[in-house]
Amino acid sequence: MATTSSSCCSSFVYQSSLFPKHPRLSPNTSFFSPRRLRFSPTVVRVTSAIAVEPVSTRISSLEGQVFACPVCYQPLIRKGPPGFNLRAIYRSGFKCQNCDKSYSSKDNYLDLTVIAGLKDYVELKPARTELFRSPLVSFLYERGWRQNFNRSGFPGPDEEFKMAQEYFKSAQGGLLVDVSCGSGLFSRKFAKSGTYSGVVALDFSENMLRQCYDFIKQDETILTTNLALVRADVSRLPFSSGSVDAVHAGAALHCWPSPSNAVAEISRTLRSGGVFVGTTFLRYTSSTPWIQRTLRERIVQGYSYLTEEEIEDLCTSCGLSNYTSKVEQSFIMFTAQKP
Ligand SMILES: C[S@@+](CC[C@H](N)C(=O)[O-])C[C@H]1O[C@@H](n2cnc3c(N)ncnc32)[C@H](O)[C@@H]1O
Repeated sequence: MATTSSSCCSSFVYQSSLFPKHPRLSPNTSFFSPRRLRFSPTVVRVTSAIAVEPVSTRISSLEGQVFACPVCYQPLIRKGPPGFNLRAIYRSGFKCQNCDKSYSSKDNYLDLTVIAGLKDYVELKPARTELFRSPLVSFLYERGWRQNFNRSGFPGPDEEFKMAQEYFKSAQGGLLVDVSCGSGLFSRKFAKSGTYSGVVALDFSENMLRQCYDFIKQDETILTTNLALVRADVSRLPFSSGSVDAVHAGAALHCWPSPSNAVAEISRTLRSGGVFVGTTFLRYTSSTPWIQRTLRERIVQGYSYLTEEEIEDLCTSCGLSNYTSKVEQSFIMFTAQKP
């Protein structure tokens, strides 16, 4: 049962249908099994407007449809070997029956961007996104670049992972999406922890995903876990609404082209009770002298650094609640939950 913020009256909701959102994916369909057999007919206690599905009632099956079309958000139909590991997904083809658009894997990651497969159109993102598409930056990222963050108060990957896992307790056994995973520093830890039924390592940078695969290859135990590598834009996440249990976004918010579109997308994909945990660099903190604050530009060196108040405002205005955060120098880890 998740923590709740007020002592409002409780009520009970009966989950009567196994497949409420995707009637096309009937349990009798021979090839395509339902997206996820997550709900069993059960009574779920609702307190303070947060309906939390008890973890014990979830059946952790990711054999069905996890991914949705980034154009229309309809679930993608999959053809290929079953399983949610890298090899099975690599060998699978995905198709949106609504848009008649096909998606496939390249270099071991599944490309679920709107621009996947386009021949002539090329889209350039802002510099803070394009920078990480470079092969050199992607190569250097886990070989020194990320370690530099410690100077700004980031506690380091091991501690950040531990802190995130604490916040994700109510999402255990569910699907975790590591948005803007970079070279997969945290995705690998989430996958290896065995805490989740599935982990999606998702980034817009093809080279970061290649690096991610190179690291995964070195560890046979991760290769066979329920881990998928997906290229996607955080502003157009390839998941159905309310289908994700946990979203992690490490050191990413300041790199996104539009933090508001990104948080809105994250909120859309989270199920009721689902948890969002993010870290980023703050523009300034409550202890920064007033005179220094006025000198700090909203966009510094091409990044979008926000304040604590702005991040909370963003989460709240995108429909997330129970916001809390931890701050150390410029480092902030924040969490919020889908009501
Ligand atoms: C600083 S890295 C963070 C990597 C990792 N999560 C960490 O904690 O170290 C920021 C990542 O955000 C990704 N990114 C930037 N714009 C994006 C977008 N529009 N959609 C998805 N990812 C994006 C970059 O490709 C990059 O890998």
